[in-house]
Amino acid sequence: MSKGVIVWLTGLSGAGKSTIGGELLSHFHELNLNAELLDGDEIRELLSKGLGFSKEDRDLNIRRIGFVARLLARNGAIAITAAISPYREIRDEVRRLASLDGVRFVEVYLNPSLESLIARDTKGLYRKALAGEISNFTGVSDPYEPPLNPQIEIHTDTQSVEESVELIMKYLQSEYLIPCSVENARTASY
Ligand code: ADX
Repeated sequence: MSKGVIVWLTGLSGAGKSTIGGELLSHFHELNLNAELLDGDEIRELLSKGLGFSKEDRDLNIRRIGFVARLLARNGAIAITAAISPYREIRDEVRRLASLDGVRFVEVYLNPSLESLIARDTKGLYRKALAGEISNFTGVSDPYEPPLNPQIEIHTDTQSVEESVELIMKYLQSEYLIPCSVENARTASY
């Protein structure tokens, strides 16, 4: 069986990981590809329930997400992950373990400006973090280590969801990780 791929979305809260992840999932399904979205907020309700936001808890959360993503991808599915995943070392660990399984790890850095996130603040969490009502909030009072060599970097404060999704799809197609059309998907052994 041919391997799938891990599309690892990383970036601050509100950077667009869940939205872009959901759109990618729809695009993959339109191409009749097996794909799953592992969304940080959803994972924390069950698989990582009880974990907080210390470095240890975040690392464990990311290792769990990476583990499930690898299981999916080594069985031919596309695993999209949407968690902040602030620590470089753990992202690189997931990449290393994936490559041992023969699975490509595509790191997508969603990088809007912090100012734009604070201005939009859809969940109201930045206001609380800046007021000191939430501690260890990534980007405000907790670190975020940006990828050094992401396969794709998108400034989601100036690039739309549609543009972002297109960039990711084009990259995956150019690397022959997904087919270009439904017809190709039927005949090719992706
Ligand atoms: S991660 O650091 O372990 O990758 P994850 O993506 O699962 O984080 O969860 C982040 C989400 O949890 C944020 O989008 C936000 O809604 C919520 N959250 C609550 N507290 C924090 C915090 N201290 N830092 C970051 N996100 C937080």
